[in-house]
Amino acid sequence: LAEEKEKLAETNKELEEFTYIASHDLQEPLRKISAFGDILKTKYEKSLDASGLDYLERMINSSLRMKNLISSLLMYSRIGTKAITFEKVDINNIVAEVLLDFEIPIKQTNAKIEVSNLPVINANPLQMHQLFQNLIGNALKYSKKDICPEIKISSSSHIDNSIIITIQDNGIGFDEQYAEKIFGVFQRLHGKNEYEGTGIGLSICRKIMEKHNGHIIAYSKAGEGSTFTIFLLKTF
Ligand SMILES: Nc1ncnc2c1ncn2[C@@H]1O[C@H](COP(=O)(O)OP(=O)(O)OP(=O)(O)O)[C@@H](O)[C@H]1O
Ligand SMILES: [Mg+2]
Repeated sequence: LAEEKEKLAETNKELEEFTYIASHDLQEPLRKISAFGDILKTKYEKSLDASGLDYLERMINSSLRMKNLISSLLMYSRIGTKAITFEKVDINNIVAEVLLDFEIPIKQTNAKIEVSNLPVINANPLQMHQLFQNLIGNALKYSKKDICPEIKISSSSHIDNSIIITIQDNGIGFDEQYAEKIFGVFQRLHGKNEYEGTGIGLSICRKIMEKHNGHIIAYSKAGEGSTFTIFLLKTF
């Protein structure tokens, strides 16, 4: 079993390195496509007819989307390949920082956010910031059009030293059959025209939790909000 585990870790590492190199190298030709697209638009706009201009716009938009996909992929692979350090992290502070990042959308949507006493854990602060940024960002983004977002972040700790943190929203939710699928790379349930995003956020959350020897799962029902649950071990 130990040998199998080692093999798997090696394959994972190779895959991560491949992802990193491939996405890095894909950026260069893409940069040219978008640069020449821009030149075509500024210099030759007048010589194109309406449909020519439409094709050009679509080409520029697609290259922009590909740029976002590639940088998401790079961000994802970096979490796997970079060595991280752990320290005492107060999750209350992390959540407060993230809420400050989202100050504008929170005001605009009149969101109500309830945070109850969160734990101090042994973790990497940057990755914890990324984790809560993705989860709170999703809770705000996938809200229902006609009602203000209500987000509850709370935690409980148990005798066996485990900690559970939940992030609950009252948004659009999703069918429970997709609860695992959404943690996959580029997996999205909602169209890119409806909600912005590349579908990398939750796969990053999953990877961050793996790095912390923990786990994250989702629970939801379509139209009834979602709950994301984080499991961690308290090590001091
Ligand atoms: N709180 C939520 N409520 C409803 N659906 C959600 C929620 N969080 C995630 N999802 C669904 O899971 C999908 C994957 O989420 P994820 O955060 O990985 O990607 P994203 O938000 O689409 O893009 P990104 O985070 O890369 O900007 C989303 O597209 C959405 O369909
Ligand atoms: Mg997201």
